[in-house]
Amino acid sequence: MVKYRPPRSRVAQRTAGITLDHAAPLYDWLAPLMTLGAERRLHRQVVARLTLTRPSAVLDVGCGTGALTRQIYDALPVAGPRRVCGIDAAEAMIAVAHQKAGARPGLEFAATLAEELPYPDAAFERVASTFFFHHLPFDLKVKSLAEIWRVLCPGGQAVILDVDTPYSLFGKICAWSGYWLFHQAEIAENIHGKLRAALDASPWRGQWQIVARHSGYLSFFSMTKPQETSL
Ligand SMILES: C[S@@+](CC[C@H](N)C(=O)[O-])C[C@H]1O[C@@H](n2cnc3c(N)ncnc32)[C@H](O)[C@@H]1O
Repeated sequence: MVKYRPPRSRVAQRTAGITLDHAAPLYDWLAPLMTLGAERRLHRQVVARLTLTRPSAVLDVGCGTGALTRQIYDALPVAGPRRVCGIDAAEAMIAVAHQKAGARPGLEFAATLAEELPYPDAAFERVASTFFFHHLPFDLKVKSLAEIWRVLCPGGQAVILDVDTPYSLFGKICAWSGYWLFHQAEIAENIHGKLRAALDASPWRGQWQIVARHSGYLSFFSMTKPQETSL
């Protein structure tokens, strides 16, 4: 049987991650359905955990159409410069994000790969990522986590929200339904704890913790880069 492969933009073709050019026009309707209506609330919780009390440069990795990226921008203090960047490998997602950006100076979107971030070391004070890591095979999870480490400044903080090992019957049903719906091996990896394993195989080893859980299968991971680091 020939597996259907949706069309992918030029940048998306450079990654083994599961990219969503084909879903871009419908994504903002689909995402709330996939989270049983909790998408905005979950994004708000990520924003709250980023503690955006000072003007900061923030990166959103695997930003899709930029819903979280805009929320982050709007949550930053208005006094002082704001720089918020959203990246995604799917050029069609970034096109929608640009359309929805509105008048927000300092809000930027780029079609680029999480495993090869085009930013200098220590460029950001905060990094966020939601529902992205279950789109990556294990080696790219580790590479992307290493890139997040590299672009964060010492003392900087990252928050990841993603599919994780389910701990309730409801969580198991939700997580495995996602796997069966999309036939996505990367979702099964997360269910089997591979995101945690990737964190431990990356520079984040010993620097991450799960700070909250949702619906029995989603975890909020909080990571803080030490002030003093040899990496
Ligand atoms: C489920 S969407 C999440 C979008 C958004 N963060 C949210 O919370 O709704 C996952 C995104 O990851 C993107 N993606 C997959 N592989 C990627 C890679 N290697 N680098 C950057 N983005 C990638 C896909 O194109 C897709 O837009």
